[in-house]
Amino acid sequence: MNDERVVTSLELDEDRELSIRPSTLDEYVGQSEIKENLRVFIKSALMRGESLDHILLYGPPGLGKTTLAYIIANELGSNIKTASGPSIEKAGDLAAILSTLEEGDVLFIDEIHRIPRYIEEILYPAMEDYYLDIIVGTDGSSRNIKINLPKFTLVGATTRAGDLSSPLRDRFGIIAKLNYYTDDELYQIIKRTSCVLDTPITDDAARCLASRSRGTPRIANRLFKRIRDFALVYGEGIINEDILEPSLNKLGVDKTGLDDTDRNLLLAIIERFNGGPVGIDALASSIGEEASTIEDVYEPFLLQQGYLKRTARGRTVTDKTYEYLNIEK
Ligand SMILES: Nc1ncnc2c1ncn2[C@@H]1O[C@H](COP(=O)(O)OP(=O)(O)OP(=O)(O)O)[C@@H](O)[C@H]1O
Ligand SMILES: [Mg+2]
Repeated sequence: MNDERVVTSLELDEDRELSIRPSTLDEYVGQSEIKENLRVFIKSALMRGESLDHILLYGPPGLGKTTLAYIIANELGSNIKTASGPSIEKAGDLAAILSTLEEGDVLFIDEIHRIPRYIEEILYPAMEDYYLDIIVGTDGSSRNIKINLPKFTLVGATTRAGDLSSPLRDRFGIIAKLNYYTDDELYQIIKRTSCVLDTPITDDAARCLASRSRGTPRIANRLFKRIRDFALVYGEGIINEDILEPSLNKLGVDKTGLDDTDRNLLLAIIERFNGGPVGIDALASSIGEEASTIEDVYEPFLLQQGYLKRTARGRTVTDKTYEYLNIEK
């Protein structure tokens, strides 16, 4: 395995301070089951001197899939090469990526569910037996050639495991679902971000912010940065509850962590669809969002928190929703 590590600038915009992103399993907060299993699998692969089995990471946005992919490469002492599903448009795109791999590399494919099916098939032999099977030449004289690939580890990430074809899913030896974080875990992440960004936050304020971050580290960090702005301009650069509460209000984040879009969505089901059931497309057009955005970004948390239910006929709200929005049923 190659010791040289690739420094990447993935998502630099979002993580301007790259150090907010943990780089080892020890620094990675929460997801303890996944973490402990990965520790064993990585150690075993290193002991055997073989490549780690392919890993599929899935779960809602912002829970740390990309972060974990980089950590896996780092813990293996391997290079990481990255690609994303939507950028793989032709069979040749994927073949080109695969042919750059070296022994022990980690290939991270984000949004892997968006690789077109007929291209996906190239991955099957690559994952299973480490070879590329490609057709060269024109119709009359075309022939298949096999190219051996070095042993590599594919780490795929997706917000929609259900959209993955089963032959692809079956070729991952390790499948890990990331869950929403507890308030306690988010508290630890917020405290860490506070250190990295050199902006103090009181324990009470950190706990409060944790409970309003929608179970999502990305949201916790994003809110932290915005509240830091309020703390600098209106306070003394320290985030305490006096700064936190009004800032969160200005940012449209309420006590439950739900934001304007969450509330619009719930309200639309009640006001326009009589509480549901309503199909995802009708709901999406009524609030001017993409159906896929609702399914990937908003719905999972609302389902998990019990504000929304999914039935065979569509989405419905619950008693908790009426209570939360203070609307008589
Ligand atoms: N377990 C964690 N501990 C500490 N920080 C974390 C953790 N998971 C995620 N983060 C922080 O949250 C941010 C978002 O994580 P990441 O980009 O890995 O999410 P993702 O699951 O890949 O999202 P997407 O589906 O949108 O690609 C990271 O920049 C990182 O700073
Ligand atoms: Mg990601």
